[in-house]
Amino acid sequence: MSNFKENLFNKDVMSLDTYIMFKLKEQTAKLEPELTARNRAPISLSMGAPTANPPKVLVERLKEILDEDGIHTYSTPKGESYFRKAVALRMKNRFGVDMDPDKEIFSLVGSKEGISNLIRFLITQKDTDKDIIMVPDPCYASYFQFIQCAGGLAYHVPLTKENNYMPDLDKVYEKFIQDGYNPDNLKALIINYPNNPLGVSATREYVQSAVDFCKKHKILLISDLAYSDLYFSDDEKPFSVFELKDAKDIAVEFHSFSKPYAVTGWRLGWVCGNEFVVQRFGKGKSTIDNGIFKALQKACAEILNSKEGDDYIEEGNLGYKRKQQIMVKGLSELGWDMSNVPHTTFYLWLPIPKKYKSSFEFCEDLLKKSGIVVVPGNAFGHCGEGFFRLSYVCSDEKLYEVIERMKQDGFTYN
Ligand SMILES: Cc1ncc(COP(=O)(O)O)c(C=O)c1O
Repeated sequence: MSNFKENLFNKDVMSLDTYIMFKLKEQTAKLEPELTARNRAPISLSMGAPTANPPKVLVERLKEILDEDGIHTYSTPKGESYFRKAVALRMKNRFGVDMDPDKEIFSLVGSKEGISNLIRFLITQKDTDKDIIMVPDPCYASYFQFIQCAGGLAYHVPLTKENNYMPDLDKVYEKFIQDGYNPDNLKALIINYPNNPLGVSATREYVQSAVDFCKKHKILLISDLAYSDLYFSDDEKPFSVFELKDAKDIAVEFHSFSKPYAVTGWRLGWVCGNEFVVQRFGKGKSTIDNGIFKALQKACAEILNSKEGDDYIEEGNLGYKRKQQIMVKGLSELGWDMSNVPHTTFYLWLPIPKKYKSSFEFCEDLLKKSGIVVVPGNAFGHCGEGFFRLSYVCSDEKLYEVIERMKQDGFTYN
């Protein structure tokens, strides 16, 4: 019970639930002693956080940089110039696109912070007739929380097998109007390819249609490219929205160090693209923080365009390919149809076994019986009901153990 009057926090914040990944962690911790006693110590396939060590050279450089003069003082919110220049070079080397390091790039405390604050800056809090952001469904579960916390409304854009996970945006807009929403309140469309939780990518033509759609309706296109470097088939190599025509007119893109370099705890990323949006975002951001620890910026700037960095990513992707194969083989033996899995991210998105009524029921049973932690699909949106997501970021041994436990405990698809 709180000692304060009821309206201390605004009602949007009061209506927030604990983020699903932390909820699962808490639930697993409670069950751990009992599961361990039954030889079913929890194996987490829930978080999208690489478990490998970061590149050795990155950690070594960080240690050296810690001794440099002036490294421990405030940075600037937009990021040190060496950081933004390294980002511009990466955008050129990796995607062939030009970004002005002074005007079109801004550092972030991870892309979660960046997307969340951008959304806060876009949305005006209103009791009725709320501002709206179109979000893919299923999607990175935090998008819903960002929008809710900012006092906005998430309009779900269904990604389904039937629309090949690339819904026709004109049809989406038609439905949006039919549903009675006010187009004046529509602020932005979020796209995320490769997608968390689906792992799917989009064609260039489709992303171009998203650019054209946003231009037509004068709204912002937010491209979340957190998985830009996680791919193990050249056919599915992720691309930047800025490789497409006119994208800089209406888009910004979010990038992260977290997944490619296995530094989820370091909290570093960047946003780049449309100058007006990056600059306005920067004004808002400068009221919130004073920039990222310079040592992190410097070490990460160096890895970004280095052979060691690229080798690390390539090796990591070979590892994910192998881990995916372990899971594909094991789950096929258990009856899942694994014939068409994408080759990006480190997620598998799978239907729950037929005998379960809901994603939640299946995930709870898998945890309680076998100590295997996966995420119920509906945590990622309405379209996720009937599915679950697993991330194959743990050791090969643990993945084999997961399959073995599922066999022993009777978790088959049919
Ligand atoms: C699609 C997507 N965007 C953004 C993030 C946040 O990443 P960061 O560590 O850069 O905040 C995640 C993390 O899982 C993600 O899946």
